[in-house]
Amino acid sequence: MHALNVLVTRMAALPSIESLLACLCVLTTSLAAAPTADYKQPYRPQVHFSPRKNWTNDPNGLVYFHGEYHLFYQFNPLGDQWGHMSWGHAVSTDLLHWQELPVAIPEKDGEMVFTGSIVVDHENTGGFCASGKECLVAIYTGHRSSAEETRQTQNVAYSADEGRTWTRYAGNPVLDLHMADFRDPSVSWDENEGHWRMAVSLPMEHKIRFYASPNLKEWTRLSDFGPAGDVDGAWECPDLLRIPAEKGDGAIWALKVGLNPGAPQGGSGEQYFLGDFDGKRFVAFSRAGSHGWTNYGKDDYCAISFNGLPRDAKPVLIGWMNNWQYADKLPTSPWRGQMSLPRRLSFVSDQAGLAIKQEPVIIPLRTEHEAIRPTEGGKVRSSFQKAPFELDLEFGRPSEMIFGLRLYTDKQHWTEIGFDRSKGEFYIDRTKSGAAITADFPAKTTAPLVVSRPYDLKLVVDRSSIEAYAQNGTIAITNLIFPASDTSRVELFSASGKPMVVKGDLWKLRSIWE
Ligand code: FRU
Repeated sequence: MHALNVLVTRMAALPSIESLLACLCVLTTSLAAAPTADYKQPYRPQVHFSPRKNWTNDPNGLVYFHGEYHLFYQFNPLGDQWGHMSWGHAVSTDLLHWQELPVAIPEKDGEMVFTGSIVVDHENTGGFCASGKECLVAIYTGHRSSAEETRQTQNVAYSADEGRTWTRYAGNPVLDLHMADFRDPSVSWDENEGHWRMAVSLPMEHKIRFYASPNLKEWTRLSDFGPAGDVDGAWECPDLLRIPAEKGDGAIWALKVGLNPGAPQGGSGEQYFLGDFDGKRFVAFSRAGSHGWTNYGKDDYCAISFNGLPRDAKPVLIGWMNNWQYADKLPTSPWRGQMSLPRRLSFVSDQAGLAIKQEPVIIPLRTEHEAIRPTEGGKVRSSFQKAPFELDLEFGRPSEMIFGLRLYTDKQHWTEIGFDRSKGEFYIDRTKSGAAITADFPAKTTAPLVVSRPYDLKLVVDRSSIEAYAQNGTIAITNLIFPASDTSRVELFSASGKPMVVKGDLWKLRSIWE
């Protein structure tokens, strides 16, 4: 499907701008209330961010500034379907406990505020900050659509109060190619070149275009990457990342590109290219593992990284835990949409080739612990069988061909997470997990196994999702599930029926809303 058609479909039945403004006032006043009571509905994520009410999609403008992590996100202030896209806002000091704030950048004069990024302008290069001060500057896509024309342009807004309120730059747009599809700028400071760098998508041409600017206002074209890899759908949400080695020194570059529809698991997905960036041009490596998918599940899209972190730190990414195939059908109320856990990225280089390693930020939420001992014949003696929890397992060098675990809600409903060595796959099967929602929803999602990497598994199970990391974090599968209750009885299985030799740890997780 053409991305424009997708957008047009998403725009059906939108209320008026007057009701938008009225609603924003209500929203601003009601957000002061403590969230706890509002976060107990069926399926409500307990360790993942979701807005108190209404629709969200992509994370936007992730930035660390003056001791706060900022999460902005595509948000509809007026309802629980896509429309009136504005930037919602939440802040955190630990990347896990979020406080939702009033809408940061609302739709204005018929222009929706699409995905983009935020930078810290330390030197006031743009002249947007108070004199002698640093400030936050947002670069986002403005989306206008009428019967005659659809136009996407890149625009600037700035904030003098730690991201609480924003002023649009009078000289907007700063980039206009007179195109209907030109979006999702990812901007950061290039220390080597001494300028701002933007990666932005030409979705229908399957290109990521790089620009440079001294002041965030005037942009010069540097180069194009693509078409390359998978081009079955629109290219969206690019991010160029400098990723340090898991161990030791060194860094490589990764260009991450969203693809919708047409991802291997159906609908939305994200491919990455590992390579080199010389300040102007990104060139992909041809070595094994240089092209892959950041997630082999169905529900991790448009992840972007935080600006404002130290240059050599592992990049931290948050994605939208959803898929455009059924995003508008999720059986949740009064909100629709949630974010993935933040994940720290590094790269692994071994005999099998290169790989991106992902580690979720979760340790601060651990509470009660239970050790899983190899001597117990693979029994997980869990006294706490309720989401949210974390389960870390090591299977050693298994002789079994197919093994893993099932999370049972009741006798008829379970999710299976397993390694299938006969097919060379790691998988999550959610066909029997719970509510099916749409024909595209029940699915077994698979990722390629690498025989020489460890058979280990980290699971974070929340009320309506499973995040799985396997083989030293080099495989990630994130899937939504909608089980009838939060009961999640863990049972290990193997194809032969023999008990597995497994050791590990099970942690109860504290809700971020308590
Ligand atoms: C991806 C996306 C972006 C766009 C935004 C609009 O999910 O289509 O390309 O900026 O959503 O909400």
